[in-house]
Amino acid sequence: MALREILTYPFPILKKAAEPVKEFGEELEQLVADMAETMYDAPGVGLAAPQIGIPLQLCVIDIMPKDQERELIVLANPKIIEGEGKEIDEEGCLSVLDYSANVPRFTKIKVEAQDIKGNPLNFEAEGFFARVIQHELDHLDGTLFIDRISSLKRTLYKKKVKKMLRAEKEEGEK
Ligand code: NI
Repeated sequence: MALREILTYPFPILKKAAEPVKEFGEELEQLVADMAETMYDAPGVGLAAPQIGIPLQLCVIDIMPKDQERELIVLANPKIIEGEGKEIDEEGCLSVLDYSANVPRFTKIKVEAQDIKGNPLNFEAEGFFARVIQHELDHLDGTLFIDRISSLKRTLYKKKVKKMLRAEKEEGEK
């Protein structure tokens, strides 16, 4: 297992739709192990493959509190086939530095996916778990939570990032 670098906005791969997972096997299991290690290390409750530069429809999720037993969920080629209700709550992202915002999501969803072996998965999710799934699936479509907030807030965030990048560059030139 190895820790991978988490790419952050505005890295271009974060804005691209990922490709379906077609080959299941040892290589995919190795990738998932790295993704899980990277997520737990961050720490975060979810990580999608594009966030470490791999353009595959693959994500790992674990919403269990740190002091409890881990429950790693691996979703390959996941799709939300039904969604109901709407709830607004605060979200952050390992790829969106120093920012969080209120994002509307379905309260309840039905998900179709494949597990790490390629077996079909069919399940329902609610509340925070449903929110995390929706957030991770967005990554697979090249969408970040900042794409789901008001354009004014998004513009302010982009300005903040530009400023941070400029400051880093100037620091590097000194
Ligand atoms: Ni994220």
